[in-house]
Amino acid sequence: MSEILNGERLVLGTCYYPEHWPKELWREDLLRMLEAGIEVVRIAEFAWSKVEPEEGRFTYEFFDEFLDIADEVGMKVIFCTPTATPPAWLTEKYPEVLNARMDGVLLRHGARRHYNYNSPVYQELCARITGKFASHYAGRNCIIGWQLDNEINCETNEFYSESDTRAFRVWLKEKYGTIDALNEAWGTAFWNQTYTDWKEVHVPRTTISNSTNPHEVLDYTRFISASARRFAKLQSDIIRRYLKPGDFITTNGLFGNLDNHAMTNESLDFITYDSYPNFAYCLDAYSNDPRNLRDRKWSRNLSETRSVSPIFGIMEQQSGANGWNTRMEAPTPRPGQMTLWTMQSIAHGADYVSYFRWRTCTMGTEIYWHGILDYSGRENRRIREVRDIHRKLQGMKGIAGARYEAKVGVLKDYDNIWDAQLDVWHGRVDSASQKALFAAAQRSHTPLDFVYLTKRTTAEELAQYEVLIYPHMTIATKEQAELLTAYVENGGTLVIGCRSGYKNTTGQCVMDKLPGVLSELTGTDVPEYSFIAPDAGAVTVDWEDTQLTANVFADQLEAVGDAKVVGTYTSDYYAGAGALVCRALGKGKAYYYGSAFNEESARIFLEKLGVASPYRALVEVPESCELAVRSKDGEKYLFVLNYEPTPAEITLHQSGTDLYTGETVSGAQKLDGYGTMVIRL
Ligand code: GAL
Repeated sequence: MSEILNGERLVLGTCYYPEHWPKELWREDLLRMLEAGIEVVRIAEFAWSKVEPEEGRFTYEFFDEFLDIADEVGMKVIFCTPTATPPAWLTEKYPEVLNARMDGVLLRHGARRHYNYNSPVYQELCARITGKFASHYAGRNCIIGWQLDNEINCETNEFYSESDTRAFRVWLKEKYGTIDALNEAWGTAFWNQTYTDWKEVHVPRTTISNSTNPHEVLDYTRFISASARRFAKLQSDIIRRYLKPGDFITTNGLFGNLDNHAMTNESLDFITYDSYPNFAYCLDAYSNDPRNLRDRKWSRNLSETRSVSPIFGIMEQQSGANGWNTRMEAPTPRPGQMTLWTMQSIAHGADYVSYFRWRTCTMGTEIYWHGILDYSGRENRRIREVRDIHRKLQGMKGIAGARYEAKVGVLKDYDNIWDAQLDVWHGRVDSASQKALFAAAQRSHTPLDFVYLTKRTTAEELAQYEVLIYPHMTIATKEQAELLTAYVENGGTLVIGCRSGYKNTTGQCVMDKLPGVLSELTGTDVPEYSFIAPDAGAVTVDWEDTQLTANVFADQLEAVGDAKVVGTYTSDYYAGAGALVCRALGKGKAYYYGSAFNEESARIFLEKLGVASPYRALVEVPESCELAVRSKDGEKYLFVLNYEPTPAEITLHQSGTDLYTGETVSGAQKLDGYGTMVIRL
C-alpha cells in the first residue's frame, strides 16, 4: 500500500534540494521537518548533473548519501527524474534537443524546460538517465514514489524545433494516410494552401498576419499533447520495471496543450497539482475588484485536478512569497493563509500536501520564491503555522479517501478547450461562461465538478450528476450526442449554451442547420445568430417570468418537434425570438440556451433547475466563504474557508464535531479573517 493517498490519513511533505545546501545541513533539516510534522520530501527534479556529470559517466554517491540519512531518520522520499533541466554538456553537444521559438531561434541553456519532446537524441538520453535513476535508487526503503520530469508543458507548451516538424509529419501521416486527406481536413483550398508533398508540411511558422490555418493549429495542439504524453510514458514504462510494490508514479501540475486525463491513465497512478493561490496577489495581476475571487479561484484549478484524479496530491503548495528575480512578485502569505490554502486543497480532494519549498534558495532565479524557512533557516511564523496545520490534520484522519460531493457538472473535452484557444468567437463565449459558472457556484455554495467527455465516458458515470452544463460545445460528434441523449433519457438535466454543434472534429464548420448533431437532442433550430454588439446595451431574456441578461452572444432559437421555447429575448431586434428551448426526453430534460452565461444568469439556472445551495438546511455560510463537502462511509466533512481578512459567521443547523478541537458545535460559529473550519456531521 502506498504511503500517501492510501485512504488512511492526510500527509504533509515539502520540496527539498540537497544540491542547494551544504551536506552538513541535511540531517538537521530532515529532523526539523519531522519535528514540524513533515514526513515526505520530494527531491532531484533538476539534478541531472549530480548523477551524470559528463556524458556516460554515472555517479550515485551524492543522492545515496542523502538517502542514507533519510533512511536513518525515517524521512520518506519522492524521487524525480531530472529531465526538466538537461545539463549544459548535453545541449552544447546536441543542440537538436533544444526547443525553438516559432521563428526558429533556439531556446538556449540558462533557464529550464528548454528541450523538445521529439528529439530522438533527447528521448534516448532521457530513457538512459531514467533507467539509471530507477535501477539504482528505486529499491531504497525511504523512496515511496516517483515524479516524472517537472511540470510537463510548463514555461511553454509550444514546440517549434526541427525534431517537432519531423515528428509532426509522422503523426499526420498516421492520422490521415494521404496528403489529400490532410488537405481536405485542413481546408487547404482556402488561400491556396494545398500541400503536394509531406515535406511541405511544418509545425506552425511565423506568418504574415500571425495567424495560421486553424485546422492545422488544432491538429498541432493535439500533436503537442501526444508528444508530451509519449514522453511521460517513455519514463513511466522504465520506472515501472524497478518500482517497489506499493510505490507510485506521478507528475506535478496541470498545463495547457496536454490531455492530462489521458496522460494519467497511461502513465501515472494519480496526478499531483502545484497550488500557488498567491498568484492572485502578484503585483502585475492584483485586482481591487470586489467581485474578483482572487485566491478562491484556485478552487477551480483544484476541481480540474479532481477531474483527473478524484483523490490527488499537492506536490507544491504555497508557503511563502512569490518571486523570480525578474517577475511574479507577490507578498508573503498573511497569518492564516497557509492554513487556508492547505485546507482549500484538502477540501477539494488532496490527501497529500507538500510545501514548496523547505528553505528559500540563496541563488538563482527564484531567490524571492520563498519557502517555509528564509535563507538563514531560523525559526519563523510560517514553520509555526505548518506545525499547527499538522496538529489540525491529526483530527482529520477520517477525511482521507473521502470523495468531494457535487451534483452539478460542467462538461468539457480537450478538442473544445483547444478550439477555444485558437478561435476568438469560441474563446470569448467560453471564457465568459467558465468564469460565470464557477463564480455563481462558489457564491451560492453549489459544489461543482468538471466532467471531461472522453471516449471512455459512460452514461452511468454521468448519471451521478443531476445537472450537467456544457457551456459551449462548439465541436460536437454524433457519439457525444448519443451519450448525452442517454444521460437525459435516464433522468439527467442537460444545459447546452450557444455556439454549439457548429464544428466537426477538424474544426471546420458544418453545413447542417445548427446546432448540427445536437439539434435532435435539444429540439432546437438556430435560424439566426450574432455576437452582441458592444454598443447594444443589455440584451434581456424572460424565462417564465424570471429576467436574465444575455452575455456576449445571441443565438435566436426556434423549437422543433416536441420541444418548447421557455425563454424569449425581450430587447433589441432579438425581441420575440427564442432564447431558451427545453425538450423533455425520457426521464430528463435537455435545454439549449442561446447565449453565454454571466454570473447572474448562471445562478438563475442553478436555482431554477433546483440544484443551488444543496447544504442550506445544514449550514448557512456567507458568500465570502467557500463551502466544500467531502464524504465517506456515511459521514460528511464540511469545509468552510474564509478568504477575507475580516471575520465571518456561519450558522450550523445541525450539531457536528469541530475537527480542529474535537468539540461538539452547533448554531452560530465565528471564523477569524482567513479562518477555516472543518466539521464532521
Ligand atoms: C513551480 C515549479 C517549481 C518552482 C515553483 C516556483 O512551477 O515546479 O520548480 O519553480 O514553481 O516558481
